[in-house]
Amino acid sequence: MSTAAELITRLALEKHPEGGYFKRIHTSAHAIETANGERARVTSIHYLLTADEPLGRLHRNRSDILHYLQGGGPVEYLLLDEVSGELRRVTLGHAPDLQLFLFVPGGVWKASRLIGAARHALVSEAVVPGFDFADHAFADAALLERFPQHRELIYSLVRR
Ligand code: GUN
Repeated sequence: MSTAAELITRLALEKHPEGGYFKRIHTSAHAIETANGERARVTSIHYLLTADEPLGRLHRNRSDILHYLQGGGPVEYLLLDEVSGELRRVTLGHAPDLQLFLFVPGGVWKASRLIGAARHALVSEAVVPGFDFADHAFADAALLERFPQHRELIYSLVRR
């Protein structure tokens, strides 16, 4: 089994501003028009959480994102629906009772973190329409005020 350091080297991963490591692995040659400007039709990345970078900080993106666990885990996703205030937890892992795939619709707040004995989790993401930082926002103190029932949890997911 590959260690986190081996994966970072083999996949040429770089630090991600959310925490963890990533590398863009695909950008569609085709562009599409969205309400917010032109985007690639689809983009894809490898994303890695490790023992020293165990948290992908709470953020949201306008695009739909499909997540496929490739190795390691378990990794827990925390999903907060802006409109309903519903908080959902989904764990990706290779144990039979866990799932290997997660769909996150555009606009939903998302954080990810290693749980249990996990030393790393390698997840591939497909982003549709393709990723653009203009569609991306980190959670801040204002979100804590809007969801006081999840205050402690949100606080633990926004720290650097
Ligand atoms: N998150 C999902 N896709 C991407 C990407 O292509 N670049 C960055 N920086 N973050 C992403």
